[in-house]
Amino acid sequence: MSAIVAEGLTKHFGEVRAVNGIDIEIARGAIFGFLGANGSGKTTTIRMLTTLLKPTAGSARVEGLDIVAEARAVRRRIGVALQEAGLDDLQTGRELLTLQGRLFGMPGAQVRRRVRDLLEIVDLAGAADRAVGGYSGGMKRRLDLAAALIHWPSVLFLDEPTTGLDPASREAVWRYVNQLCAEDGITVFLTTQYLEEADRLAHDLAIIDEGRVIARGSPADLKATIGTDVVTVRVGGPAEALDRAAEAAAAVPAVERVQRADGAAVVYVPNGARAVARIVLALDEAGVEVGDVSIAQPSLDDVFLQATGRHLRAGEMPADGGAA
Ligand SMILES: Nc1ncnc2c1ncn2[C@@H]1O[C@H](COP(=O)(O)OP(=O)(O)OP(=O)(O)O)[C@@H](O)[C@H]1O
Ligand SMILES: [Mg+2]
Repeated sequence: MSAIVAEGLTKHFGEVRAVNGIDIEIARGAIFGFLGANGSGKTTTIRMLTTLLKPTAGSARVEGLDIVAEARAVRRRIGVALQEAGLDDLQTGRELLTLQGRLFGMPGAQVRRRVRDLLEIVDLAGAADRAVGGYSGGMKRRLDLAAALIHWPSVLFLDEPTTGLDPASREAVWRYVNQLCAEDGITVFLTTQYLEEADRLAHDLAIIDEGRVIARGSPADLKATIGTDVVTVRVGGPAEALDRAAEAAAAVPAVERVQRADGAAVVYVPNGARAVARIVLALDEAGVEVGDVSIAQPSLDDVFLQATGRHLRAGEMPADGGAA
């Protein structure tokens, strides 16, 4: 049985087609990444799969249970950490987790043990008896993650678990997620707008754009579909220069494809290092003003670019962990 199956899952808010017919099947015990830009439909999909929102059309099952007809049973099997954590600032971390456990009907002694263990796992044992209002953003995220795990869910939903975190906190979240999956066999469904996070963490990936899945597979398989190196040449001058650049690059031997994006010609060619000199020369001969040139292995952004003609805007992780 798959952990999650969605068929034609759809949510419209009036005119807004937030989620537009999503078909996915997710194996148990995998880390599944749902990668997309702001407003692409990630949270709306999570809210439907976690029974917080009724689909406009289509259906889905989580652990074999229908998200509408068997919503209560679904809720017992899942843990959810939403994008905006609704933590009570006056409670301590330990109180908050304890309350969460009691809400699931767990007996007192069991809750105490579970809370102690979870606080250890997310490195909050030292801060357990301080009010949550004094926690940093990263600590709040970790507490929210612990709260989602209190009742031993078999499927964990994390909506942008690392957005806005500094690099160290982000690494910590990645470590817990890997550990949950490897040691406890939990299926993790996580959304992200970070290409690198999807690449590093997810075993299996769907890229979502405007409410539709536009690419699907493991990060390695998705990148392999590009099949070439990627030479990106920035082009100065008028917009028309980019057309000339693309045309000149396409005529270079071995070049398979050229795409225009954000003032650059993106050239797909099997051996980038060997072809780059000829590409630059060809552009120069075509009278094009050549700026920065880079050669890279295909990234998930190239997969996104190929499917949509655009770069994934929010795909850069903030190195300083500041404003996301
Ligand atoms: N309750 C709502 N009413 C109306 N429109 C909504 C509602 N919730 C979401 N939307 C719209 O649906 C689209 C998808 O939103 P959603 O929150 O699912 O995107 P997202 O991928 O989670 O974005 P982000 O990365 O910013 O969190 C957006 O256009 C959003 O404005
Ligand atoms: Mg969202």
